[in-house]
Amino acid sequence: MNLFLIGGTGFVGRAVVERLADAGHTIAVFHRGQTTPPLPSTVTAYQGNRDNPTALRDALDAAGPDGVVDLIPYTETHATALARVCTGRTNRLIVLSSGDVYRQYDGLRGVSDHAPDPVPLNEDAPLRSSRYPYRGTNTDFAYAHDYDKVLVEERVRMGEVPATILRLPKVYGPHDGDHHVGQALDRLRTAQDELVLSPAEAGWRWSRGYVVNVAAAIVTAATDPKAAGRTYNVGEPNALTQATWLQQVAEGAGLDTTVRTGAPEEQSEAPPLDWDYDMVLDTRRIRTELKFAEDVSRQQALSETVLWEQAA
Ligand SMILES: NC(=O)c1ccc[n+]([C@@H]2O[C@H](COP(=O)([O-])OP(=O)(O)OC[C@H]3O[C@@H](n4cnc5c(N)ncnc54)[C@H](OP(=O)(O)O)[C@@H]3O)[C@@H](O)[C@H]2O)c1
Repeated sequence: MNLFLIGGTGFVGRAVVERLADAGHTIAVFHRGQTTPPLPSTVTAYQGNRDNPTALRDALDAAGPDGVVDLIPYTETHATALARVCTGRTNRLIVLSSGDVYRQYDGLRGVSDHAPDPVPLNEDAPLRSSRYPYRGTNTDFAYAHDYDKVLVEERVRMGEVPATILRLPKVYGPHDGDHHVGQALDRLRTAQDELVLSPAEAGWRWSRGYVVNVAAAIVTAATDPKAAGRTYNVGEPNALTQATWLQQVAEGAGLDTTVRTGAPEEQSEAPPLDWDYDMVLDTRRIRTELKFAEDVSRQQALSETVLWEQAA
């Protein structure tokens, strides 16, 4: 297939490019030229800013793709322009969304009046009615003010080109700019022998995905016509509790730290989240409809990520 990737040189994108190239697909990437990892020699790169729809349109006209994979649609404006520019230029659109579309995420952030929704959350679970979850937060993310994947999803669904929406979990792996595993390692190293959690945090669960497996799910959805117009959660089949995750990171890094629960005065500093709200995604739909399964085990994924974090 001839696929056009918007983004494609960042954390998730480069893993998608690698997988598509290995499978022999024709690939174009469209990005500003600020993130420039080595790419397979067969990839065509178009330089441009997605905030300029004319540049995007011209690149699409040059590439003539069967499908467009938008790895970085962050705002309603992005999605509206994307749907418009793809009309008549491609037959399929694959859009990366996030588990943060579920209203459970507002509960986790402590800004919801709703009781926790039952988990796992399938694709029909209630979505946030609040808007712009990162507006006003202290971040250097350029699109934080207008970021909202609920609006992105709504806009691409209104377009003429059938859109496949992929709701990603917390992604970890080499080149993760958020250093998800690195942050866990910092916490474990600071704690030294024992990392003590509140019982609520210890039992909290969050769906995660190793970047290579997440890329495989994106490629599966992009290359299977059955995925057209469908929405899928992506993530590991079993979401670990926070205590088990931290313990597995410690073991992956060869640390002797024991993770346990304890009284408030013993507990390590934790993020200010409401641990009653598990962020567990039900990933059965993509497994059943598209026969998706991970290639890389969690143990292998953690060991590769720890190695990268240690070198970073
Ligand atoms: N990471 C997670 O845990 C997670 C969780 C849920 C959902 N997601 C979703 O996964 C997607 C990929 O995230 P990521 O972490 O891989 O992103 P990333 O590492 O920040 O990659 C950004 C990519 O987009 C390009 N880019 C950025 N701004 C651009 C612009 N204005 N115009 C054109 N190209 C631009 C960058 O290249 P240049 O710098 O060269 O332009 C790079 O190729 C996002 O949609 C994110 O919301 C991620």
